[in-house]
Amino acid sequence: MQGKVAIGADHGGFILKGIIARYLAGKGYEVLDYGAHSAEPSDYPDYARAVSDAIRSGRADRGVLICGSGVGASIAANKFPGIRAAVCHDSFSAHQGVEDDDMNVLCLGERIIGQELAKEVVARFLAARFSGAERHVRRLGKVRKIEQEFMKS
Ligand code: RB5
Repeated sequence: MQGKVAIGADHGGFILKGIIARYLAGKGYEVLDYGAHSAEPSDYPDYARAVSDAIRSGRADRGVLICGSGVGASIAANKFPGIRAAVCHDSFSAHQGVEDDDMNVLCLGERIIGQELAKEVVARFLAARFSGAERHVRRLGKVRKIEQEFMKS
């Protein structure tokens, strides 16, 4: 078992979600699919919430969210404390985002990225580990402080 990956998508990311879920299952990941379960129009914040909840509760180690562009999903996911989400359509950002920034949710845009590149980007994201370097820990501490400060208001 490679780890538990929560995945979710609105109608804009529905087809790519299925492709990525099958790809990850084939690589030995446990895939928790939080929908959508059809291509009917739906709302990306609902899937951002479900995937973020799965990570925050420890049911999943990482998340993949897909919408048309990846933008809406990332905006919504970053509202949840402890979620560090970003749109990455290249493999460098996908692994460096984890190594330096401890990204735990990868967002993709089905209308932007091709299927093969999407698989590669997801694989690099999941294989990467946070470096734990002092400067990155310090910067993440500042991010956490911002989160805590504004959660109060
Ligand atoms: C839905 O049409 C689209 O707005 C959504 O999937 C996403 O791209 C938002 O960022």
